[in-house]
Amino acid sequence: MQNIVVTGATGNIGSRIVLELVARKRADVIAFVRDPLKASSLAAAGAVLRRGTLEDSASLRAGFAGADTVVLITAGGTLAEQAKAAIEAARAAGVRKIVRVSSLKASLDGPTDSCRQDARAEAHLRASGLTHVILRGHCFMQNTLKGIRSIREEGNVYFGSGSGKIGMIDARDIADAAVAAVERDAWDGQILELTGPVAIDFATVAAAFTAELGLNIAYVPIAPEAAGEAARKFGADPWTATVLTEYCTAYAKGWGDFTTQHVAELTGHAPRSIADFAREVLAPAFSLRP
Ligand SMILES: NC(=O)c1ccc[n+]([C@@H]2O[C@H](COP(=O)([O-])OP(=O)(O)OC[C@H]3O[C@@H](n4cnc5c(N)ncnc54)[C@H](OP(=O)(O)O)[C@@H]3O)[C@@H](O)[C@H]2O)c1
Repeated sequence: MQNIVVTGATGNIGSRIVLELVARKRADVIAFVRDPLKASSLAAAGAVLRRGTLEDSASLRAGFAGADTVVLITAGGTLAEQAKAAIEAARAAGVRKIVRVSSLKASLDGPTDSCRQDARAEAHLRASGLTHVILRGHCFMQNTLKGIRSIREEGNVYFGSGSGKIGMIDARDIADAAVAAVERDAWDGQILELTGPVAIDFATVAAAFTAELGLNIAYVPIAPEAAGEAARKFGADPWTATVLTEYCTAYAKGWGDFTTQHVAELTGHAPRSIADFAREVLAPAFSLRP
């Protein structure tokens, strides 16, 4: 097995991918990071760190040198440009395969800038001629961790999706799927929408949190614009806040109301439920004092 480089390696998905690949001792696992200090736990586990940014082509080419496969995770309002630069650097560096973490229902005329930009990124990848797998993740259950303070202080979960159902996914399942797509060629050339086991509304999310935490937690629907505004207040950049408003608007109309079987096909295990997430991720985070 050849070298594998993971970008976005300090994030939710990327860090788990790095740790899983290292644990399997299948290859030299290289974490492409902006700040090596933030990646000290990855280095301690045995990953090699290479420093760079997705805006800097020279650092990308150096970061991808000698790699067989790149797991390409980008972030934020320039994600299409980041992906284009990374795909070109991968070609220049002789990379064979890219496993791309993309957005739900990526489409040039989709309802969010994230899915429109990811459609452009996917087009670059297809045009590159590189072997690739595209994994489009549904709304992460982990997004709810941003509301942990209002859960603790008010017993409320605020979101802007009305009663729209969403095939929410535990980000750990996207990481597990990416590891499978790295290790096997069975899904090469495919686009796979990854979802949780069932489409749920936020009243169901609040009920799962109530059951796990033993508190009375209510879902408080707010307008999509108010969800974006609240994200701004808590530190999100303008693009992220706008995209959140766009996703909420789309979810409220039922755009996210679907599930697929792809997590199970890729990973060999059922996708984690909101109850699994509440027990294994939310409750430990909730027990930490702010
Ligand atoms: N949230 C959702 O519901 C959802 C759904 C579908 C798809 N996605 C996509 O999945 C991606 C990964 O999600 P996540 O939760 O793992 O993200 P995350 O925790 O926010 O992590 C983002 C990662 O990207 C790195 N990064 C950001 N800008 C960079 C740059 N300019 N150059 C190099 N690295 C950069 C960050 O590094 P630092 O640690 O240095 O900041 C971090 O490692 C998201 O970016 C999003 O596009 C999200």
